[in-house]
Amino acid sequence: MTTALITGATAGIGAAFARRLARDGHDLVLVARDTKRLREQATELHDRHGVEVEVLAADLSEEDGIASVEARLAEPRKPIDLLVNNAGFANKGRYLDVSMADELKMLKVHIEAVLRLTSAATEGMRERGRGGVVNVASVAAFVPRGTYGASKAWIVQFTQGAARDLAGSGVRLMALCPGFVRTEFHQRAGMGTDNIPGWMWLDADKLVAAALSDLARGKSLSIPDPRYKALMGVVKLAPRGILGGVTSRTGRKYGPQ
Ligand SMILES: NC(=O)c1ccc[n+]([C@@H]2O[C@H](COP(=O)([O-])OP(=O)(O)OC[C@H]3O[C@@H](n4cnc5c(N)ncnc54)[C@H](OP(=O)(O)O)[C@@H]3O)[C@@H](O)[C@H]2O)c1
Repeated sequence: MTTALITGATAGIGAAFARRLARDGHDLVLVARDTKRLREQATELHDRHGVEVEVLAADLSEEDGIASVEARLAEPRKPIDLLVNNAGFANKGRYLDVSMADELKMLKVHIEAVLRLTSAATEGMRERGRGGVVNVASVAAFVPRGTYGASKAWIVQFTQGAARDLAGSGVRLMALCPGFVRTEFHQRAGMGTDNIPGWMWLDADKLVAAALSDLARGKSLSIPDPRYKALMGVVKLAPRGILGGVTSRTGRKYGPQ
């Protein structure tokens, strides 16, 4: 029996990881801030799939929250085999519209927490000679737009670099780059979605299935949909100046998160 720890497990992509991994027979540790929601989800997954589900209420924008999840990941008697660093959010507004406090909060969750939790998990995994980490980034990592995209670009670079450093150790790391996914994300950030074409939306359960299949194949970067693979191919070829113009006209409201 293996155990997976998922951050941001109560909604959207994290909840889809929890459903899929529970269905596949993995015990779970679910992390988020809302204790009531965590407990309800744990009970449902345990009752439906018969797996053990622990809950760990932690705010990953706070030192105490990060430290408590680090401690759980480093617990030698209850090893974690798969870590999914998924918790994340966006701030509404362009650069300089968002307060410095909110920008730093996002960097704490998207960068500091991801670095510290990945490190806490992979130390034990390397000793055991097996394990996996999925760090949820975004296709926004590939376009020059705002601090959200910059934080996701850090996740991609960090994860691929660490994957290379740990190659041959039995530990796999993968950055997952979704396009638009129907979750609570846009509503929480107060972003409108009316202008996003229907074809751009991905289903969280299908996204997770594709991501886990990419992880099993040893990929260090997963863009799990042909539509977004093609789009990112075009983005790679386009001059950054043109991309910057397109994305600053579209802004956060319409660009991929
Ligand atoms: N939806 C998209 O279009 C999209 C596209 C690309 C990438 N992503 C990325 O995918 C990841 C998941 O997003 P989602 O769309 O599933 O969002 P979501 O539906 O809003 O879910 C976010 C989850 O993260 C938790 N969370 C938020 N802030 C937290 C904090 N400070 N500490 C601990 N947990 C926290 C939330 O639970 P609590 O509120 O209870 O803490 C919730 O479980 C994010 O990293 C996001 O950047 C999303």
